[in-house]
Amino acid sequence: MGSSSATTSSPTAARLPEGGPSILVGVAGGIAAYKAADVVGALRRRGARVTVLLSRNAARFVSPLALRTLSGRPVGEDLFDEPAEWGVGHVTLAKEADAFVVVAATADLIARLAAGEAGDFVTAAALVYHPKPLLLAPAMNTAMWRHPAVRANLRTLRARGARILDPASGLLACGDVGDGKLPDPAVIAGEAWALARPDARPGAGAELAGRRVLVTAGPTREALDPVRFLSNPSSGRMGYQVAAACRDLGAEVTLVSGPVELPDPPGVRVVRVVSAREMLEACRGPFTRAHALIACAAVSDWRPARPSGSKVKKTGRGASLRLEPNPDILFTLSRAKGRRVLVGFAAETDDLLANARAKLERKRLDLLVANPVDGGRGFGSEANEAWILAPGAEPRHFGPGPKSELAALLARDVADLLRRRG
Ligand code: CTP
Repeated sequence: MGSSSATTSSPTAARLPEGGPSILVGVAGGIAAYKAADVVGALRRRGARVTVLLSRNAARFVSPLALRTLSGRPVGEDLFDEPAEWGVGHVTLAKEADAFVVVAATADLIARLAAGEAGDFVTAAALVYHPKPLLLAPAMNTAMWRHPAVRANLRTLRARGARILDPASGLLACGDVGDGKLPDPAVIAGEAWALARPDARPGAGAELAGRRVLVTAGPTREALDPVRFLSNPSSGRMGYQVAAACRDLGAEVTLVSGPVELPDPPGVRVVRVVSAREMLEACRGPFTRAHALIACAAVSDWRPARPSGSKVKKTGRGASLRLEPNPDILFTLSRAKGRRVLVGFAAETDDLLANARAKLERKRLDLLVANPVDGGRGFGSEANEAWILAPGAEPRHFGPGPKSELAALLARDVADLLRRRG
């Protein structure tokens, strides 16, 4: 198996940063509150100092002990029984915080924030935090999300400077299907991080400021006929996280994406394509201007040789399909590499490191992220385990950890390579 061959090569561990901004995570009493734990973990791994504040009912849905353990700090539970070391905690904390994100912002909490109430830790700290912009990650039932009272409260909060993340769509805890799902915790953490580190916004002198980065993401679809295609289960999450991580370091990012169900990352130019040939064409222009290409897309290596213009009818007999090769986008672009930094991914089921090394050379890459794809790891999953290869260096091991962390690590590696290249 790829993973067993990899573990014999004594890879060195990839390091995550330490020290960083102070971020408040307010948690409200809704079923999605437990996902605050993922947001706290992701922010800590980025190096943030995280303090969790609970609204009155949050502890019914998520364990304060878990949040205390993950954040490594006391959790604000009862406004009238603040941890002794905090003094008048909610005031000091809110004044000093670089970002304040409310995870699982329920309809009730949104109403109380809009009304300016101060009856629990989250609302009291939010008043003191003003006029710095609150970040709200809403989660509630679809009917609640669409209710005119909730819309009006959100407008009020927006007018006061709050940033409100769009909830995701899907199956809700109540069994309904629709808008109102908590956004991906990695996205929430990324947005909170970007707010806490305004110096990491584009053009502000961060590690990738002034650099243009091209990222490919998602699967491609190769049509057999108007209703059928060849593809793979890539969710696009890795590429979207990489694009957001490069943006967070100040890069101007173009993301060429195959068909995925992810929203455009804010502050990133997104070009949506369907097939491998479309992806290659969409990459050519941005590549000529790019300082770095990070190819995360799971490109279909073949396409049907003769796709049908109309739906192919069943005949009751077997059928065979003739395929022809698609262009290798990364390989094609690598021929005009110049001084660009090129990063590839390799999803391998066997001989992980040997196959990955061959790809590193063949595609003239500066970095290659090799993922074992077996036993549920890799495609479509939230977490990732990887070995990061570079020419002439020992492979570094990452994870298993969230894709957002791997993305942040790669963005910093690309920044280092570009800096050394001048
Ligand atoms: N890639 C690409 N265009 C393709 C195939 C792959 O740009 N047609 C890129 C992927 O985005 C990834 C890297 O090349 O960064 C490795 O892709 P992978 O499919 O794992 O490797 P292949 O080179 O296709 O080799 P093999 O099929 O032998 O595994």
